Amino acid sequence: MSSKDPLLQPFTLKHLVLKNRLMSTSHEPAYSEDGMPKERYRLYHLEKAKGGIALTMTAGSAVVAEDSPAAFGNLHAYKDEIVPWLKRLADDCHGEGCAVMIQLTHLGRRTGWNKADWLPVTAPSGVREPAHRAFPKEAEDWDIERWIGQYADGAERMQAAGLDGIELECYGHLVDQFWTPSVNKRQDNYGGSLENRMRFGLEVVKGIRKRVGPKFIVGIRMALDEDKPGGFGRAEGLTIARKLIDEAGVDFINVIRGYIDTDPALAKIIPITGMKAAPHLDFVGEMKAALGVPILHAARIADVATARHAVASGKLDLVGMTRALIADPHIARKVAEGREAEIRPCVGATYCLDRIYEGGEALCIHNAATGREATMPQIVPKSTGKKRRVLVVGAGPAGLEAARVSAERGHEVILFEAADEAGGQIRLAARALRRRELLGIVDWRLQQLEKLGVGLRFNKWAEAEDVTGEEPDIVVIATGGLPQAPALETGTDLTVSSWDILSGDVKPAKEVLLFDDNGAHPGMQAAEVIAEAGSKLEIVSPERFFAPEIGGLNHVPYAESFQQHGVRITIVRRLTAVKRAGNRLQAVIGSDFGDYVETREVDQVVVEHGTLPNAELYEALKPDSVNRGEVDYKALIAGQPQTMVRNPAGSYRLIRIGDAVSSRNIHAAIYDALRFAKDF
Ligand SMILES: Cc1cc2nc3c(=O)[nH]c(=O)nc-3n(C[C@H](O)[C@H](O)[C@H](O)COP(=O)(O)O)c2cc1C
Ligand code: SF4
Repeated sequence: MSSKDPLLQPFTLKHLVLKNRLMSTSHEPAYSEDGMPKERYRLYHLEKAKGGIALTMTAGSAVVAEDSPAAFGNLHAYKDEIVPWLKRLADDCHGEGCAVMIQLTHLGRRTGWNKADWLPVTAPSGVREPAHRAFPKEAEDWDIERWIGQYADGAERMQAAGLDGIELECYGHLVDQFWTPSVNKRQDNYGGSLENRMRFGLEVVKGIRKRVGPKFIVGIRMALDEDKPGGFGRAEGLTIARKLIDEAGVDFINVIRGYIDTDPALAKIIPITGMKAAPHLDFVGEMKAALGVPILHAARIADVATARHAVASGKLDLVGMTRALIADPHIARKVAEGREAEIRPCVGATYCLDRIYEGGEALCIHNAATGREATMPQIVPKSTGKKRRVLVVGAGPAGLEAARVSAERGHEVILFEAADEAGGQIRLAARALRRRELLGIVDWRLQQLEKLGVGLRFNKWAEAEDVTGEEPDIVVIATGGLPQAPALETGTDLTVSSWDILSGDVKPAKEVLLFDDNGAHPGMQAAEVIAEAGSKLEIVSPERFFAPEIGGLNHVPYAESFQQHGVRITIVRRLTAVKRAGNRLQAVIGSDFGDYVETREVDQVVVEHGTLPNAELYEALKPDSVNRGEVDYKALIAGQPQTMVRNPAGSYRLIRIGDAVSSRNIHAAIYDALRFAKDF
């Protein structure tokens, strides 16, 4: 793409010249260690900088005070020791021509009290946030005074670290908890009228400005329309923004529409797969026209064409492609080099964000190198060793990734697939229109394999002789698994699997009981298919809440569908047996909590209990392999090659990955493949 590309035009923000319009908006990947952005954090941002973006907004709400304990690994901006860590990160990114800012915040009621220093959660008023469940203390005058100073201290530290600017998180956090009448019930001069509700935010920004001087860039990420019962609308939002710009010298606005108190509300701000792309873009354009300051925005602008349109249409100045950059940190470079088609697509799975709310770190469903830059390559280097013959069996996500990485290493790759197309379980998941984008995981790899000259051999059910006949140096078994039945006293043969429903092989009956003894997507997706077919459905789960392996944002579409179709959800109960009852079935239900029996009469019982590995080929190939299938876990963890020899007479190394080992998920399959194949 030529330099006329709207995305590649420079933009001047105050005095700062940004080399293009692409940015990563603030997001906490939870890579912090002791609240500090150490090596993992630095390498993560450095990779995006190398990938060519103009600006990385680091941290997800680095916290400015001890009484705002980290909710999801947030950085501790209230500690002086953060300065050298951030300085190193900023210096490295600046070295790549990428500007660095940071988002600061106090979480107010959006955190918990039973961690870190066990200080009470404090907010403008004692109104509880459903998502974090703390009952806040109403802020006292000394809290307010202290916070204003702490925000300024935090900003000063960021300036000392050599960052190009800061952004305050003002949607769902402390500052806007003062703005919104839905939270601020105060009777003093910080509550009531808009003038009073704006007071705290203005004092905070003025305090920061006084401390950092007129040149340092200070922006606000804020909801300009809460779109919330009892919240503020666009007129008040614009008044607040205007005042912050005119009276406190705010340099840019990063536009949000909505609120984040609940999962469904958050999903409107961070839409997931199957939801509308760029849902707020027109609103953002209206805000830009009304405010006349630089405007930043991100919300499911996941592809370059939409990002280009957003900039070209003048609706915003800097476009956040935040999850897209988690999936491929090199978007900007690929656009600049005319290799747009090679961008690894963000498929909206939102595995990344759902993980941090469950206490994990952000990981991309199909880029296992992101967040692991110290050990896993984003760009797989060519091998300097001997060219090898790598034979991969199975073209699901694990096999496709193993083939891709092996080919990038420069090896000769043969890929056998028993079916007539690639994708494995992803094809099943993508049968639902709502999750169709998951096919991007398969298609991107197929496209890469084509570019690398790897031909797939479909309809090839590989026996051991087929494999050994190819005289491979390395064999990768990625044969996946097949549905595993849960342990029932009787009647397994009377049940059908979630895969039967998902594949369309079995039609949902009139009245269905679905026993989900996995807690992940396959059971829930089958339930959605059954409910939407008009069947009467009860989901039974032995868990304390349904589908615990699915994170908050991915729960939203399921919960909406189940509510809409009147699905009955029964938790802490276990299906123990299925019996015939005339031409219907009797499901016997027990409990892990002591003696308990109840029954249901239904037309169909669907079960989900993960998969059993397809391991016959692996077992057959073990004896003649050099390692007898064994993995050196220490070397694997350290990111080093497998060199174990158990059978010196063996003619190939045998590696088993993905669900062919045990029932896991797409990320595990792809990480298995990458971490072995990068050393082939
Ligand atoms: C793992 C993760 C953590 C996030 N944490 C924050 C945060 O702390 N503060 C914030 O303002 N936005 C946060 N976000 C939201 C992003 O900045 C962005 O608004 C959102 O991902 C939508 O943009 P996208 O569709 O380009 O990803 C987070 C997003 C992700 C994926
Ligand atoms: S996990 Fe999904 S939403 Fe998150 S970056 Fe990866 S592809 Fe995008």
